[in-house]
Amino acid sequence: MLEDNRVLSGGAGADERFEEQSLRPQTLNQYIGQDQVKQNLSIFIEAALKREETLDHVLLYGPPGLGKTTMAAVIANEMAAGFRTTSGPAIERPGDLAAVLTALAPGDVLFIDEIHRLPRSIEEVLYPAMEDFCLDIVIGKGPEARSVRLDLPPFTLIGATTRAGALSAPLRDRFGVHSRLEYYTTEQLTDVVLRTADIFGTMIEEEGAEELARRSRGTPRIANRLLKRVRDYAEVRGDGNITLDKANEALELLQVDRLGLDHIDHKLLTTILSRFKGGPVGLDTLAASIGEESTTIEDVYEPYLLQIGFLQRTPRGRAALPAAYEHFHMEIPAQ
Ligand SMILES: Nc1ncnc2c1ncn2[C@@H]1O[C@H](COP(=O)(O)OP(=O)(O)OP(=O)(O)O)[C@@H](O)[C@H]1O
Ligand SMILES: [Mg+2]
Repeated sequence: MLEDNRVLSGGAGADERFEEQSLRPQTLNQYIGQDQVKQNLSIFIEAALKREETLDHVLLYGPPGLGKTTMAAVIANEMAAGFRTTSGPAIERPGDLAAVLTALAPGDVLFIDEIHRLPRSIEEVLYPAMEDFCLDIVIGKGPEARSVRLDLPPFTLIGATTRAGALSAPLRDRFGVHSRLEYYTTEQLTDVVLRTADIFGTMIEEEGAEELARRSRGTPRIANRLLKRVRDYAEVRGDGNITLDKANEALELLQVDRLGLDHIDHKLLTTILSRFKGGPVGLDTLAASIGEESTTIEDVYEPYLLQIGFLQRTPRGRAALPAAYEHFHMEIPAQ
C-alpha cells in the first residue's frame, strides 16, 4: 500500500481502509471489470474446488487502487477459505514469517501485500513453504545448530505488488497464476460509481456518474474518493442529487481536470515540458525537481500518464509525447 497525501491519489490512508472494507465486492460476479482475470480465475477456482485441493499460488500485480486486495479477498471467499493478511514490510525476520505460516489452517488463503518488499533472506523461507508446504527452521547456534523441517497445512499464497519487476525471479516463478490488473474503462468505472452511490444511498444521475468515471484515472479507488467529495458538494450547494452540472462544478473546485489529472500530474508534466524542454529527463532528477520520491513517481503518478500516451520511458529518462503538449496548449517542438 503506497502512502501519500494526495486527495486523489491511488494509495489509501488509514482512515479510509475501514470504509473501503464496506465497499469491497465479495464475489467474482460483483467484482466489476478485469474480465480476463476473472474468467481465468473462475476456471482455476472451480477446478481446485472439484479436486478438493487448494488453489495454486496467485500473483496479482498492477498500479495502486485497481483492486488487488479486493480480488484477493474475493478469491478466498469463492474458495470458501479463511483469509489471512500481512505485508512485505511487516515481516522483518524469518521468525515473523514462520509465525504467520504455522498459524495457518488447512486451505487458508494467505495474502501478502507489497510482496516485492520482502527481504531476500525471508523469501528463502517462503520457497519450500510454497513448493512443498513445509518450513525449514534452524534451532540453536554455532556447532549445535540443526535444521528441523516442519509440515505446514496446504494453503494458497496470494501476493500483491505494484511492481512485478521488483520481484526476484525465483519468487515470481513459484506463483502458478500471474494476473495483471488493468486500468478500468469509463464504462466500468461508471458502474463502480453507481454501485458505491447505491451503497451510500446517494442520488446520482447517469451523466454525473459518467463524468466522475471519466476523471478517475482508470482507478476505482479514485472514483470512490471523488464520489465522496462530489457528494459533499452536491449536499451543500444543491439538493444532494449529483447531476452532470454538480459533478463538473465540484471537480473543477477540486482541481481535477478533464482527464482526471490533478495538480501533481500537472506539476510533473509542466516540469518536463518547460524546465526540461520535453525531456528526456532522468527519474531522480525529475523527482528532485518536484519534491517527490522516485518510487512514488514510478508507482503512483507515472503509470497512468504512460497509459494515456502523455509520457514515454526512454533509456535516458522520461520524455513528453505530443498529447501532453496538446493538453497544455503548448507548441510541439520541431523534431
Ligand atoms: N472491481 C471493483 N469493483 C468495485 N469496486 C472496486 C473494484 N476494485 C476495487 N474497488 C474499490 O476500490 C478500492 C480499492 O481497491 P483495493 O484496495 O483492492 O486496491 P489495491 O489494488 O489493493 O490497491 P493498493 O495497491 O493501494 O493496495 C476498494 O475500496 C474497492 O471498494
Ligand atoms: Mg491493496
